[in-house]
Amino acid sequence: MQVYLFGGHVTSWKNELGEELLFLSSKNTFKPPKAIRGGIPICFPQFGNTGSLEQHGFARNRFWSVDPDPPPFPSNTSSRAFVDLILGHSEEDAKIWPHRYECRLRVALGPGGDLMLTSRIRNTNTDGKSFTFTFAYHTYFFVTDISEVRVEGLETLDYLDNLKNRERFTEQGDAITFESEVDKVYLSTPTKIAILDHERKRTFVLRKDGLPDAVVWNPWDKKAKAMSDFGDDEYKYMLCVEAACVEKPITLKPGEEWRGRLEISAVPSSYCSGQLDPRRVLFTG
Ligand code: BG6
Repeated sequence: MQVYLFGGHVTSWKNELGEELLFLSSKNTFKPPKAIRGGIPICFPQFGNTGSLEQHGFARNRFWSVDPDPPPFPSNTSSRAFVDLILGHSEEDAKIWPHRYECRLRVALGPGGDLMLTSRIRNTNTDGKSFTFTFAYHTYFFVTDISEVRVEGLETLDYLDNLKNRERFTEQGDAITFESEVDKVYLSTPTKIAILDHERKRTFVLRKDGLPDAVVWNPWDKKAKAMSDFGDDEYKYMLCVEAACVEKPITLKPGEEWRGRLEISAVPSSYCSGQLDPRRVLFTG
């Protein structure tokens, strides 16, 4: 596991064979003003470009610090290794987002090698004002071939299509596969989502809490070419499935705290293919 202070950004997560599980663009410079492309950018306090702030908020473009004396882990989670990062308000950012806050990120590795992210955001305003934000773990999964990837757990759900002015649609069909650009915000999603990489016979299982939405993004060939920090063909080897809170922003009064959590495991596909779709489980016995 590798974590950058720039962006509070996880850039690498490997399995026990040493295989990389997150996508990271070969065109990264790893320094401002461009957020790191790949890994797990933190989108805060704004997801996307729906507010007055820069796209995906400023947190992914700031230097976080390590908390040398972090609060204890909840007793039900045993962790082999973890680091706590903090981002706090600055005079500079107060000009564009006039609030005091503390944004914490705990990055931990579970006993089986699972990657566990916990975010806690607290309103520390002293002027009595509430604030509102949206949030996402903008996770870039490394896949062998995007056209051989299927996502389970989002079938039949409503989504906002970012490629169609955020118009609302309902997902049709029983599997989500990829053959062109996609940029959708699935709403009220289940706590568990799976990404099946057929070619590698690997399944990523996402478990999330406090993050009702799931953004699914792949820029495909044309947009990939237009992005200066992304290789022309790299869209084939990545898929973003982002545990997020977008549709209904979170409001915190002074002193209040929000918590969001994402756990990701990478398991052999035979282990869980179809388990999220009750019909498929019935048919395959
Ligand atoms: C996704 C958005 O989360 O991030 C897309 O839904 C966006 O609309 C993509 O294009 C990448 O954003 P950025 O700012 O990292 O290029």
